[in-house]
Amino acid sequence: MPLVFQSERFFREAWPQISQSVESGTDAASDVQWIAGATGLETGARVLDAPCGFGRHSVEFARRDCETTGVDFSETELGRARRAAGEAGVSLALVCQDIRDMEFSSEFDLAVNLFSSIGYFSEDEDRLVLDRFWRALRPGGAFVVDTRNRDQCVRSLPPEERMRRGNSTIRVENEFDPTTSRWRARWWRLKRASAKSEDASQELIGESEIRLYSAHELLHMLRPERWRKVELFGGLDGTPFSLDTHRLVVVARK
Ligand SMILES: C[S@@+](CC[C@H](N)C(=O)[O-])C[C@H]1O[C@@H](n2cnc3c(N)ncnc32)[C@H](O)[C@@H]1O
Repeated sequence: MPLVFQSERFFREAWPQISQSVESGTDAASDVQWIAGATGLETGARVLDAPCGFGRHSVEFARRDCETTGVDFSETELGRARRAAGEAGVSLALVCQDIRDMEFSSEFDLAVNLFSSIGYFSEDEDRLVLDRFWRALRPGGAFVVDTRNRDQCVRSLPPEERMRRGNSTIRVENEFDPTTSRWRARWWRLKRASAKSEDASQELIGESEIRLYSAHELLHMLRPERWRKVELFGGLDGTPFSLDTHRLVVVARK
């Protein structure tokens, strides 16, 4: 398979326009609380959040006095993360880098890859990214991946999803390609309800394409033999994993 990154344009151009409408800071605080408990995170721990987006989880880790490094390739999102850290009175190390190029080595106690941030590349490159996380951790360190549950999507991916935050509504048209397990989404911004025609009422923001992995595929890619312990959950709240959970969360201990 050629080395493709189908969603690069989406993440560089479209995502920064909507990320703060789609991703919630409140969820980030509870996500981090659960991750801290599930991994036994200690004060002063070194945490890698990649990709970190606008830093919603990084800031929460830093609030817990963790030495936190956020990696993302979007200067726009990193700028927001820098501002959020300043407002929270915490410090973050922010690195503008493609996650495929991360070269950390045994430096972190915890590494996280959150909110469907795997599956952007070819399968070989996704595996390489997971290797990068393994390498970044010290022995005994923990890795948390949180992504969409492919098997739940196969059975019941809604053709359309809507997210309403403040004054804006984002409409997502979903399509699951069973021949590649790639989820294609067209992201629309709905304009004010007063707009008359269907065309006039929405604006296409961008299109994304993400490989969704089943639990067994993701576990296989992680190479379970090199982790001391690997657990599955159905969300960043400890829900047991099943075919019906929207999320697939892996907690692995090196
Ligand atoms: C869905 S967001 C999730 C961000 C963050 N984990 C969160 O939960 O808020 C995905 C992020 O991946 C970043 N991204 C996409 N491709 C990347 C790449 N190749 N290298 C680094 N960052 C990338 C985007 O800029 C975006 O901030």
